[in-house]
Amino acid sequence: MQTQLSFANLSGIETELLVVAAVDTQTAKGTEAKPLPALFTAEAAVNAAAAQVLASGEYKAGANETVLLHAPAGLAAKRLLLIGLGKQAKVTVNSVREAAGTAVRFAKPRGIRELTFALPDAEALPGAAAARAAVEGAFAGDFDPDTYRSERKDQSIQSFLLAIEANADKVAVEGAFAEGVIVGESQNFVRTLVNEPSNKMTPTILGQRAAQMAREVGLSCEVCSTEKIRELKMGAFLSVAQGSAEPPALIVLKYEPEGVNDGPVLGLVGKGITFDSGGISLKPSAHMEEMKTDMAGGAVMIGAMRAIALLKPKVRAIAVICATENMPSGAAQKPGDVQRAMSGKTIEVINTDAEGRLILADGLTYARQLGATHLIDAATLTGACVVALGYAYAGGFANDDAIWAKFEGALEKSGEKFWRLPLGDEYAEMIKSEIGDIKNTGGRWGGAITAAEFLHVFAEETPWIHLDIAGVAWAEESRPYRAKGASGAAMRSVLEWVRSY
Ligand code: BES
Ligand code: MN
Ligand code: ZN
Repeated sequence: MQTQLSFANLSGIETELLVVAAVDTQTAKGTEAKPLPALFTAEAAVNAAAAQVLASGEYKAGANETVLLHAPAGLAAKRLLLIGLGKQAKVTVNSVREAAGTAVRFAKPRGIRELTFALPDAEALPGAAAARAAVEGAFAGDFDPDTYRSERKDQSIQSFLLAIEANADKVAVEGAFAEGVIVGESQNFVRTLVNEPSNKMTPTILGQRAAQMAREVGLSCEVCSTEKIRELKMGAFLSVAQGSAEPPALIVLKYEPEGVNDGPVLGLVGKGITFDSGGISLKPSAHMEEMKTDMAGGAVMIGAMRAIALLKPKVRAIAVICATENMPSGAAQKPGDVQRAMSGKTIEVINTDAEGRLILADGLTYARQLGATHLIDAATLTGACVVALGYAYAGGFANDDAIWAKFEGALEKSGEKFWRLPLGDEYAEMIKSEIGDIKNTGGRWGGAITAAEFLHVFAEETPWIHLDIAGVAWAEESRPYRAKGASGAAMRSVLEWVRSY
């Protein structure tokens, strides 16, 4: 998808589809005559073209509600599409992100390959942030997961033009627009990796994709397998990999900006289980196919490193992705086995399906050994987190309030939703082992928290954030603004967190 900015008047833009945001101006339910929806543009010609449909009362401008007008009078555009942002009082930059996605997804199945999205002109929407969100939303909407369909249904949009009011701050908007392209493409890169089935996305292939990306954007990348992992004494990581015919991959990406020789080193650690069968503690077959997405945390870190390499923040960052399948076989580890992690701690493996924390234990230790002073990990770690928070919010944990405050600041920029859950000694108690140091499950209750406490043992005192994205990495349903399937969720927040240093 090509993207371009325009500061021209909307009425003069020759385009297949001009998209303008509308808003529901109704404040409260009452008996008074209801005010009609309004457009988020001051341009008289556009308002005149939309006047009749707005006056009809048929169109309410609800969130992502659309109405299409052909041959709009007084406009050079062939079609005018109104997209609702919902109630005026609730409009945010996120509404713009969604509206741009909806515009793209409206065009695609209709064979419209080129469109112009008018950036909503409203006080509540700072121009630069809205421009960035619009571009991100357009990329998100353009993505479809039908890679292996013989006849792909919805072809990609060729050109997305973002039209900005002439009086906007051009420099700020242009910068934000360019950022939006990088972030949107990086998030779609994450989605591409996560959507791949496990036979097309083995640990080795994930390593190759990371290495290829690193070459393209100028990151250093090292991918190693069993021998080196054994040399590093990553006993917890290897215990998961030992049951699989596919070799594991330890993927390390480094971003070292010139002239930055001191200050923090940010360690990004990702869970890269390319298929989670549960191992000997085998999962039931219903929905097991979804476990091809169990490398989403790893993909998030790979995508974030891509965006970091292109946006060039002045801070060092290292990503460590532990990639392996979790399979049952004669060579697989068994419940009750005791493993020695890279840190030296011993782990009693009660349930081989609690494998994510095993590989992350060594990933965290390795990131610290490589010099990370601050850690963030992302993982589709527990079903318990989905039970607690559903699909809207992902879970977040931190052993340090300052690092969490940084992350909350990042959420304001990314527009993503995370809810902080507690850590605590009461939960740490639940994973003490009789035979070794810790065990890899803490019983039925508080499962997301005992999993986080397990990771805490390996993060130790290093300031650390853990993101449990089990509920948000995969979208069960499609929306007007994005396809179902891999979401790329958490990439933007990790990126903004890095940029906050
Ligand atoms: N990959 C799963 C968690 C998961 C569940 C991700 C649903 C996405 C959707 C993880 O490895 C797992 O199996 N966790 C177990 C832990 C349990 C055995 C302590 C779980 O949540 O059931
Ligand atoms: Mn599992
Ligand atoms: Zn898993």
